[in-house]
Amino acid sequence: MKTRTVLGIESSCDETAAALVTDGRVILAQRIASQDDAHRPYGGVVPEIAARAHAERLAPMIEATLADAGMILDEVDAIAATAGPGLIGGVMVGLVTAKALAMATGKPLIAVNHLEGHALSPRLADASLEYPYLLLLVSGGHCQILLVEGVGRFRRLGTTIDDALGEAFDKSAKVLGLGYPGGPALERLALEGDARKVPLPRPLKGSQEPHFSFAGLKSAVLRAKQSGEYTDADIAASFQQAAIDCLIDRMRRALAGVGPVNALVVAGGVAANKAIRGALEKLAADHSLPFIAPPLALCTDNAAMIAWAGLERLADGQSDPLDVAARPRWPL
Ligand code: KG4
Ligand code: ZN
Repeated sequence: MKTRTVLGIESSCDETAAALVTDGRVILAQRIASQDDAHRPYGGVVPEIAARAHAERLAPMIEATLADAGMILDEVDAIAATAGPGLIGGVMVGLVTAKALAMATGKPLIAVNHLEGHALSPRLADASLEYPYLLLLVSGGHCQILLVEGVGRFRRLGTTIDDALGEAFDKSAKVLGLGYPGGPALERLALEGDARKVPLPRPLKGSQEPHFSFAGLKSAVLRAKQSGEYTDADIAASFQQAAIDCLIDRMRRALAGVGPVNALVVAGGVAANKAIRGALEKLAADHSLPFIAPPLALCTDNAAMIAWAGLERLADGQSDPLDVAARPRWPL
């Protein structure tokens, strides 16, 4: 059968990205532009600034990505774009661009759920990964435990009732004066601290459903800092350990509640954290499961995962009409 290539577009948060991916799992080209510098002065993503930046960058980026692969748009088999969930201005920029390209070329449009992009991306990285698998998706915007059973077939076992884990890392880092995005800096500082020094809560630990809550932990970090009793490094180490204890407790519960799975997988920007990876790897080994953490460039927001989700949908005979709506909220 002829190889199929999909153009993927991602613009749901603060990364503008385009990629060309084949069903043979080859990323022919991909480009990504982060907007960290634009949002840094505000300590978080500003939706209006993000949408404007996507609008400026996306079309030339798609052109450059095609040039990188030595392709023209007519050689692409379908156009896939994130249609939600995310910051609606940015999502609309990506989706409307994809609609225009689909209309101009007559190629199928595939409206991809960003979370499905994350959830299926481990299969782009690892051809041996078969459904079903248990996925921990942890980033600045997401914090979910998903049973991934197939294309469009997910069971959301747990989610956060307030902040995402990356958000808690970023807000705690801000309290410690570490800048934005603070996750990597907090992890570095934690290496110099003692995780037993600061008593912090483990929200929802031991509860029945594998849900998360990180707002209380973040507030406890603020109180610890304001007390003046602890070093920043000890606060960082204690925060990270509290977060790990919550993740492992919830994942253990999720594993106990599902049937057989083929692997334990982690994705999202927080998957960059070595201490978190280490703890998950051990949990997987305890359950005799392979542990899969895709390369970081595929874990954080990117367009290759959107192209890949598009390919899986295309192989399943799916595409979307040109009036498909952008959705700020779109649970799996
Ligand atoms: O997936 P991603 O790039 O974008 C979102 O969809 O949010 O994730 C970014 C998040 C940020 O909150 C960042 O602080 C966090 O991932 N992060 C980390 C680390 N590297 C990135 N958190 C903890 N430890 C890290 N090493
Ligand atoms: Zn994401």
